[in-house]
Amino acid sequence: MNNVTRRDFVKAAAVSSAALSSFNILGAQTASGIHTSKIKVGLIGCGGRGGGALRNFHEAAGLLGIEVEVVALADAFQDRVEKVASGYKLDTSKVHYGFDAYHKVANSDAEVVLMATPPAFRPVHFEACVKAGKHCFIEKPVAVDPVGARKVIAVGELAKSKGLTVVAGTQRRHRQSYLEMAAKVAAGAIGDIVGGSISWNMGTLWKATRTPGMSNADFLTRNWLNFTEMSGDHIVEQHVHQLDVTNWLMGRMPKAFIGYGGCARREVAGGNQFDFFSVDMDYGDGIHIHSQCRQIAGCYNRVGESFRGTKGFINGVKVSGKEVKIDPIIVAHTSGIIQEHVDLLKSVRGKGEPMNRSREVADATLCAIAGRMAAYTGKLIRWVDVSENVKSPYYNFTLSPAALDFENGEVEMPNELPAVPGEAKDWKEY
Ligand SMILES: NC(=O)c1ccc[n+]([C@@H]2O[C@H](COP(=O)([O-])OP(=O)(O)OC[C@H]3O[C@@H](n4cnc5c(N)ncnc54)[C@H](O)[C@@H]3O)[C@@H](O)[C@H]2O)c1
Repeated sequence: MNNVTRRDFVKAAAVSSAALSSFNILGAQTASGIHTSKIKVGLIGCGGRGGGALRNFHEAAGLLGIEVEVVALADAFQDRVEKVASGYKLDTSKVHYGFDAYHKVANSDAEVVLMATPPAFRPVHFEACVKAGKHCFIEKPVAVDPVGARKVIAVGELAKSKGLTVVAGTQRRHRQSYLEMAAKVAAGAIGDIVGGSISWNMGTLWKATRTPGMSNADFLTRNWLNFTEMSGDHIVEQHVHQLDVTNWLMGRMPKAFIGYGGCARREVAGGNQFDFFSVDMDYGDGIHIHSQCRQIAGCYNRVGESFRGTKGFINGVKVSGKEVKIDPIIVAHTSGIIQEHVDLLKSVRGKGEPMNRSREVADATLCAIAGRMAAYTGKLIRWVDVSENVKSPYYNFTLSPAALDFENGEVEMPNELPAVPGEAKDWKEY
């Protein structure tokens, strides 16, 4: 990192959230320049999380005394968008469906757009919204391949230059307990981190079956959670949360990834993902973090992070080490998924530099993609080869079909077998 120590970095990240969180809610309405007028919001991706994010946005606005008007909804499918629309009694002119429907939200009079489609679409949707001058909430993960993740970084920079707020669904960055833990680490409670283990181990999730007459585009989109091209695989789709926490606390990105995984139990018909990953992340200076994730029923489950430091250790948000003094972390809500919208609204309506979380979530997504690549190929993947080295095939790697293929109606089914490490033929781009 350029002239910035790890502790400065972690501290800055903790403080920027805390500073926004520490506005007095009632005082903020006048003294901090937060206006309590109505805010117009749009949503792209009206599924479980999209509908949830819209409710969380309302709840956060309610805590700040801001009235919400939903002005545009979009989903690939009519049934999905109408389900969410029915909860808000919306005029049909505000309800859009189809793979190009996101343009209607980007070009609506929404001040803020929430995005919660499968991650394959995020870079393109995010770009359209930022170009149209919208403040954005982008669900994690934000891409499925290195080219997509770097596009999000570039669009995030564009948002910065336009003074737009970008908040991501990496909710731990907004949760009081995590902010307090990170502030203690920054204050030296456990010394320097020298190793760790992070995991998202759980049972299987849902699967959609292909019905007669269903197009490739509709099948892949309804069954997105089981195709790497749509979700990034579960190391990206779920485990990104732990990778984000790790990079946050480490204050830097890993240098290299070596891993393995496979498809031990999952029925592959209707999907091509692994059901377990085990990845060694080398952060340099002899520091290794073990990343593991599994979606297999009937096994030991654990979702969390633990780190060993030179003066103590962390298990989840519990810090065992030196007593340190930290500034109080004041939040409007202890739930990260509500507080992230409080922080978003304060940033949109507050004074000072807008919050912009695009880089952190894109870096965590790219980390997860690099881990997946290591496991799929069996090769060593260097961070530099996905982030900077334009000559590397990993840098230029894109999955297909991609977002624009859906919009253009040209969707070919991807390979429906999981990758075989050591064999290039199924993943020849590697
Ligand atoms: N932060 C969190 O805790 C959290 C929790 C759950 C999900 N998520 C993330 O939220 C996102 C959505 O997950 P979900 O569980 O809501 O899935 P979901 O399947 O319930 O919803 C996705 C919705 O997006 C729609 N969609 C798909 N492609 C689209 C397109 N091109 N344009 C418009 N709409 C499109 C689908 O039809 C569906 O309604 C994923 O990125 C997921 O990882 C985050």
